[in-house]
Amino acid sequence: MAKDVIIACDFAGRQQALGFLDAFEGHRKPFVKIGMELFYAEGPEIVRELKRRGHPVFLDLKLHDIPNTVRKAMRVLSALDVDIVNVHAAGTIEMMRAALEGLIEGRKPGSPKISDLRGGPDGTRPLLIAVTQLTSTSEERMQKELLIGAGINDTIVKYAQNAREAGLDGVVCSPLEAAMVKAACGPDFLTVTPGIRFADAAADDQVRITTPARAREIGSDYIVVGRPVTAAPDPVAAYDRCIQEFLNQ
Ligand code: C5P
Repeated sequence: MAKDVIIACDFAGRQQALGFLDAFEGHRKPFVKIGMELFYAEGPEIVRELKRRGHPVFLDLKLHDIPNTVRKAMRVLSALDVDIVNVHAAGTIEMMRAALEGLIEGRKPGSPKISDLRGGPDGTRPLLIAVTQLTSTSEERMQKELLIGAGINDTIVKYAQNAREAGLDGVVCSPLEAAMVKAACGPDFLTVTPGIRFADAAADDQVRITTPARAREIGSDYIVVGRPVTAAPDPVAAYDRCIQEFLNQ
């Protein structure tokens, strides 16, 4: 199974994002994550540009709406040839199924095949993963504000099982939850895990964190790393350190 390090390109605009990635010229092309901030600022053209430059792209827009709307939105995103897209599992199994159908329908005849390793089970559509519970949601708030009576780990496992039942490829979760998800959904069900910090670095605002090496041991398939790389004095060296620790190479 493919494993990789994904850099969270949490930049306000195109210039900052491309300026940051220019430092990787002539280097291994990093897998990048585009989130809401950059996408809403720049639109689909930033995705096309990064794909043109040869970066695999995880488009992290976390869709959550009625099934028909999500299906049609996914048709549009699929035509961008992104490698990974996501939805909220809280949108229900029906919504996740609709998202998957939209992704398949959005592949135009003659669309380039997305890489076998990074672009879906057979490379013919983007991977689709679901957010279980956001790592910013505490068990207390989930129970008091959302009136979900179960424990947070039980909801994470249940949402992951729902995603699997809907035919999705995996989930976004904390690296500390990866083993639990794999045990419930099988070893091939992908875990994409933010909340990564080097052993000798600050946690910032992240709570449930671990190192790239420990994430590998627990079973993460893709780690998502933002500030430890983007805010490093030498981002290329910090990225190489992630690769070395996570891929053990
Ligand atoms: O800078 P840092 O490494 O904390 O960035 C982590 C990235 O992963 C950010 O883009 C953040 O929005 C995203 N993320 C997260 N926790 C989640 C889902 C996404 O940190 N549960």
